[in-house]
Amino acid sequence: MNNNKTILITGGAGFIGSHVVRRFVRNYPDYLVVNADKLTYAGNLENLSDIDRSPNYRFERIDIVDKKSVTELFGRYSFDGIIHLAAESHVDRSITGPDEFVFTNIVGTVNLLNAARAAWGNNSGGKLFYHISTDEVFGSLGSEGMFTETTAYDPKSPYSASKAGSDHMVRAYSHTFGVPAIISNCSNNYGPNQFPEKLIPLAINNIKNRKPVPVYGKGENIRDWLYVEDHAAAIDLIFHSGKTGETYNIGGNNEWKNIDLIRLLCRIMDRKTGRNPGESEALITFVKDRPGHDLRYAIDSSKLQGELGWKPIPRFEDGLERTVDWYLSNEKWLKNVLSGDYEKYYDSMYSGR
Ligand code: NAD
Ligand code: TYD
Repeated sequence: MNNNKTILITGGAGFIGSHVVRRFVRNYPDYLVVNADKLTYAGNLENLSDIDRSPNYRFERIDIVDKKSVTELFGRYSFDGIIHLAAESHVDRSITGPDEFVFTNIVGTVNLLNAARAAWGNNSGGKLFYHISTDEVFGSLGSEGMFTETTAYDPKSPYSASKAGSDHMVRAYSHTFGVPAIISNCSNNYGPNQFPEKLIPLAINNIKNRKPVPVYGKGENIRDWLYVEDHAAAIDLIFHSGKTGETYNIGGNNEWKNIDLIRLLCRIMDRKTGRNPGESEALITFVKDRPGHDLRYAIDSSKLQGELGWKPIPRFEDGLERTVDWYLSNEKWLKNVLSGDYEKYYDSMYSGR
């Protein structure tokens, strides 16, 4: 088996990254798992407090945009595999400030590719640069069809364009320089530890505090939701069994119109907080639409399911309940991430909308 590997996970203090780090630290005691993260507003070491004393875990505070720090990191460790999740990840922030997305998502990825190429040279057998990407690179669907691995890229937001740029650079380094790489493109994730700027945790937090729940436009946009631990399991499987040079789509086959999802969430919140049916739903407030708002995403993950045997586990209703339970019982986590600049962010994004 794959003993004694040193694995670099970037963005491991973020939402998905923390679930991936935990899974690797627990499941692979022979691996040394190095989490490199800048700790932006979205990075939170509290996400890893249950595993951060494990002997096979190290944390390195690194900004991947800083070439020198990345080079020094690769000087300190001899990495066998890289799972690259560090990114600016929120579409709304990419609309108000695109530059950071170009720096972290494109320049940061190229810095890592250069470091991997330099470290592995012509001895890249058994090594892997695994780049975690999004279905948003494929653009927006109408009411029909799904994204497959061969769908042409057509990103529409600064976030998705920067992720598409990073995917292209990974493919270019693989094709031109022989850096062994895999890319996966996943649909919207939900679950514990997601920063409450994204739809589901933002709505849970607002409902909890009886604040208006902002639904963009008419709430008719559709997303394909996947429980975060299903994504982490797919990443584990692809890292160990995926074919170098390939791309895999990951998705829950679980499409929801935003307004239907929010209504379901409201019903769960009424039940969990002992409110009368309909109390939470009364908080729904339709607000000005996001500029360039992609209508629909839907992922065809039959390649991953057929070739590697991956399957998403919880039904959406169960995953959502688990998520609500987590937010309701992790007051301290929520309080900590909402302190600092969150109020400022919230006002600038939603006042006057
Ligand atoms: P997140 O915003 O919760 O976490 C991102 C992490 O990256 C944070 O810990 C942050 O501190 C770190 N980071 C940001 N800039 C950095 C820099 N310059 N140097 C080092 N670290 C930096 O994001 P997430 O939702 O966990 O997404 C992780 C990855 O998965 C991203 O690449 C994202 O594009 C991709 N993805 C996300 C989703 C989703 O629904 N959230 C779906 C598909 C793909
Ligand atoms: P989000 O969680 O930001 O993910 P993404 O834009 O990457 O899909 O948004 C999910 C959907 O919910 C998207 O269609 C935008 C919408 N949305 C709202 O209606 N209200 C909100 O306050 C937010 C944050 C998102």
